[in-house]
Amino acid sequence: MQMKIFFSCSLIFLGYITASDPKCNDMVTDPCVCISVGSSTNCDGVTTGAKLKEFFNTKPAATVDSITITNAHQLTSIPADVFGSVKTKHVFIAKTSLSSIDDNAFQGSENVLESIILNENNFPSFNFKSLTNLNKLDGFRITNDKLTEVPQEAFPNLPLILDIDLANNSITSIKNNAFHSLPFVRLIDLHGNKLTTIGDEVFNLGNTKNRVAINLNSNKISSITQNAFKDLKVKNLELENNKLETLPQTTFEPILNYLNTLGNEPGVIHLKGNPFKCNSSIRWLVTKSTTYKRRVANFKCHSNGKNLNQLTEADLTD
Ligand SMILES: *[C@@H]1O[C@H](CO)[C@@H](O)[C@H](O)[C@H]1NC(C)=O
Ligand SMILES: *[C@@H]1O[C@H](CO)[C@@H](O)[C@H](O)[C@H]1NC(C)=O
Repeated sequence: MQMKIFFSCSLIFLGYITASDPKCNDMVTDPCVCISVGSSTNCDGVTTGAKLKEFFNTKPAATVDSITITNAHQLTSIPADVFGSVKTKHVFIAKTSLSSIDDNAFQGSENVLESIILNENNFPSFNFKSLTNLNKLDGFRITNDKLTEVPQEAFPNLPLILDIDLANNSITSIKNNAFHSLPFVRLIDLHGNKLTTIGDEVFNLGNTKNRVAINLNSNKISSITQNAFKDLKVKNLELENNKLETLPQTTFEPILNYLNTLGNEPGVIHLKGNPFKCNSSIRWLVTKSTTYKRRVANFKCHSNGKNLNQLTEADLTD
């Protein structure tokens, strides 16, 4: 999302308001909660959800391009129906202490809200119910935060969602079918989390129309079960900087075969930065390296530093 110009009003809370800050002057009765700039509303430094709601409740019905809430270090929760009669296409909330959002926070914007971007807030868990029936949502992002888990069927009824970004949290657990029933999903980004294993049903997406890129870079993944990526129409599968020591044939050969059916279309498994043991468990990959190598990026044996082009069966020692 494009960053809009921010008119910082946080100074008002420090008592430093000056005449040179005309945008804030007419807000003196209603502390500088939010300012409209063109078709965007910026709420910088807002202190409570109630104040936000109060502000929007004074506004007539309208559809705005975006509502931005930033640098609100006292803001901890967002109440139901917070935007009143104002509908917004984009919500951007960053650098707040937000840890809870009401089930009905985005009520009213169901048919216009296209993206929700939450960055550097304070969510140990997220109320995914608040996303219910957001019919137009195509992007959801909660990054650089404290999430530890993605629950079962976390994304309820989001018919148009394309991109889900949960990067840089502390996610250790993704429940089965977490990303199920998202027909157009094309990116699931989980880089920078604390995942150690990927189970069979985690990426059970159901019927999807797009090929999906899955980013699992910079986790602590050491094991991936046999059917974890089964039936996925993978675009790129990113597994860099994990703890993988081997690539089980039953897990990875079906993906490589699928990618090879795509001819010149892109699609690669990224493996840089894993401590691979080159023993007979990867003989399947070494013997078919000419078939698969253009779909495998940066595989390297930990012990001898050889890549897939350089490896021969003689290098495989148990
Ligand atoms: C996650 O953290 C890494 C390392 O600090 C950083 O390079 C990356 O840009 C971050 N990702 C997001 C989405 O902020
Ligand atoms: C090869 O190494 C992997 C990873 O340490 C291990 O799981 C596997 O059992 C080894 N295979 C053999 C045949 O020793």
